[in-house]
Amino acid sequence: MTDKVTPIGTAYRHPSGAASVEEALNAFSLFREYFQGAIGVDAEARITWIDARYRKLLKLPDDFDPNGLPVEELIPHSLMRQVVETGRPMLLDIMDFDDRQFVVCRFPIRDDDGALQGAAGFVFYDNVDHLQPILKKFETLKTQLNRARAALRRERQTKYSLANFIGASEVVKDLKAQVRRFALRDGPALILGETGTGKELLAHAIHQSSDRAEGPFVAVNMAAVPESLLESEFFGTAPGAFTGAEKKARKGKFELAHGGTLFLDEIGDMPLALQAKFLRVLQEGEIEPLGSNSIKKIDVRVISATSQDLDERLQNKTFRADLYYRLAVLTVNVPPLRDRLDDMPVLAERLLEAVPRMVDMPAWEIAADAIAVLQDHDWPGNVRELGNVLERAAAMARNEHLDADLIARVMPKRGRAAPVLPGSGLADAVAGAEKRAIVEALAAANGQKSAAAESLGVSRSQFYEKLKRYDLG
Ligand SMILES: Nc1ncnc2c1ncn2[C@@H]1O[C@H](COP(=O)(O)OP(=O)(O)OP(=O)(O)O)[C@@H](O)[C@H]1O
Ligand SMILES: [Mg+2]
Repeated sequence: MTDKVTPIGTAYRHPSGAASVEEALNAFSLFREYFQGAIGVDAEARITWIDARYRKLLKLPDDFDPNGLPVEELIPHSLMRQVVETGRPMLLDIMDFDDRQFVVCRFPIRDDDGALQGAAGFVFYDNVDHLQPILKKFETLKTQLNRARAALRRERQTKYSLANFIGASEVVKDLKAQVRRFALRDGPALILGETGTGKELLAHAIHQSSDRAEGPFVAVNMAAVPESLLESEFFGTAPGAFTGAEKKARKGKFELAHGGTLFLDEIGDMPLALQAKFLRVLQEGEIEPLGSNSIKKIDVRVISATSQDLDERLQNKTFRADLYYRLAVLTVNVPPLRDRLDDMPVLAERLLEAVPRMVDMPAWEIAADAIAVLQDHDWPGNVRELGNVLERAAAMARNEHLDADLIARVMPKRGRAAPVLPGSGLADAVAGAEKRAIVEALAAANGQKSAAAESLGVSRSQFYEKLKRYDLG
């Protein structure tokens, strides 16, 4: 053994053959000019050897004897344990020490009978010429990854920031102030408001301005997922939980949202059976994936939203009061568009900015009397409906000017069915009639989708599918 690879202190000898780790290290000492540190562990990942150069790198005091310690106590990110547990080498890896990177390789060590005795690890400094290319590449990739992450974060933040909730009226100012306050607290929030008022936008904004912004934002639309799948959607499934089900375990939304926010959209549509399970999860902060008997701790902030009349649901007992009080710790009421018609000019202008136009075409302009036409409507579909109207107007406009006549022509006509044009084919006629029925049912139900679906005698998921098909979403 040369002085360069001499173990320091009394060698700890595990009864089950640390000697062969020692022998292996001795063999490697032939190559010592290529590596700058070595460590050996036994089959339980306890340190048996460490060389002087590695000690220096780790800044160990001279009189400190690490032999016998679990390797992670000396090197917290060490993967030596993985090598002894799997018996597989890690030929090339990059490890951070302070702010420098080192290339490391780790080998399992076996005795003559092939039984695992331990493992040896070698560290290569970054000033070793032959390793420069790989470290450079790693550095570059890391920088690129960080840049991409930052860009993604900025993009997300701008797309979903509170600044994108358009409106300057007093009600909107108050609402924004309240949302900012709620973002700073970590309790569950409930967002109430008619369809198309921007509830989802606000849920994103709360998440983005909260401490959880770096964590995931996971949304589940209660009305869009078939009832039979909701439970596994939330809690996940253990491998092979159902016959015929996927063999692999699937994470539920609760787990996916760990460390972040879980957004429960259309909470009013949550089936009663699920409500009970949900309540338990919120109370206990843990989940049990379907078909497993293990419990997982979860840390999520729940934000829910609905356009339904939850009071009514509470009264007719289709929504549990205890769950309601848990979800509604912080409540946001989003005003309908008809209650903030003075926001119409700024809304129209900003929504039009997002409407595509021909290359070289100047920005859309909307006339003051056209705004007046927009203000003379009660907007059951709120900002979403307004966006659709403006898009239709832009599609029909001959130039960038949108005048009152044009707006009046594209305004939704309520309650009157357009005649079916002859020659348009039965399928078109049926589709047209179906679409009109949906629009009317939605209007009659004040934009509440579940109620509209009920009045038409179709399931929620069928209803959502049709909304999507006719672009009424
Ligand atoms: N105040 C607003 N400023 C800008 N855009 C808005 C505003 N309110 C709604 N929108 C836009 O209208 C559309 C519908 O908004 P969102 O999906 O947040 O509504 P919602 O309240 O969740 O509706 P629903 O109850 O039907 O799900 C989105 O395209 C959203 O960006
Ligand atoms: Mg929504």
